[in-house]
Amino acid sequence: MKKISALLWMVTLVFVLASCGTSQTEKGGGKKAADSEKKTLRIVTDAAYAPFEYMDKGNIVGFDVDFVKAVVKNAGYKAEFDNVGWDPVFVEITNKRADIGMSSITINDDRKQTYDFSLPYFLSTNKILVSENSQIKNAKDLKNKVVAVQNGTTGQAAIEKLFGKNNENLKKFENNNLAIMELNSGGADAVVADNAVVEVYAKNNPEKKLKVIEDSENFDSEFYGLMFPKGSKLKTDIDKAVKKVIDDGTYEKIYKKWFGRNPDLNKLKAQQE
Ligand code: ARG
Repeated sequence: MKKISALLWMVTLVFVLASCGTSQTEKGGGKKAADSEKKTLRIVTDAAYAPFEYMDKGNIVGFDVDFVKAVVKNAGYKAEFDNVGWDPVFVEITNKRADIGMSSITINDDRKQTYDFSLPYFLSTNKILVSENSQIKNAKDLKNKVVAVQNGTTGQAAIEKLFGKNNENLKKFENNNLAIMELNSGGADAVVADNAVVEVYAKNNPEKKLKVIEDSENFDSEFYGLMFPKGSKLKTDIDKAVKKVIDDGTYEKIYKKWFGRNPDLNKLKAQQE
């Protein structure tokens, strides 16, 4: 009897200690997030943006994930990814509870006021996803059409720039998959989002009968950056690693794996000057 209760005690003790352990690392990780001495970086993302970051069998995968893993390793840190959602990415970085926001985030003047960014690492532009038999040919044709976008993205900004801020035909969703679902269910005439995302979606889902429309007149070239809390000391290390990963061919390899073609390194490097 004595032996059994002693054993029970031990088992309980092990459990209590184990649970303390996890919550402590979590809290500690959060508090020390701003400290560049730290070995494990907390990286927050919205993993609903294939092929850049998305969930596959419980894992966060994608181009961004492979790229950031290479960069972080090169810079001498470890990475811990957390799928928090799009708006929370910005909240976590603002509050310095995370070290890096990784989410195909376009570097723009608006965001630069609140956040710091790494060197640009990916060239992108918004494109229009519509049904195969749609009459829409360019961005101007979206006037008075229902457009679905992910809230708070450059896709939203591009449409607002054309048709005004409080335009009733603009449907904003928490993530881009929901915007695409709205198009598929007939609740919207188009989705505006980053080219690679809509192109990969149309290609991988032929039964949805969609096509992608380019409009380089109305949609600018954009560059993604990794996002830091303002003043983060990490930027120097990460930028160095971004350059290395591009120069040693790792970037090209990862790009080919996800997009099946070579990146335009000259354009990217010109933007990094
Ligand atoms: N590049 C666009 C932007 O920065 C869209 C990014 C959306 N990313 C995501 N993981 N949902 O606004």
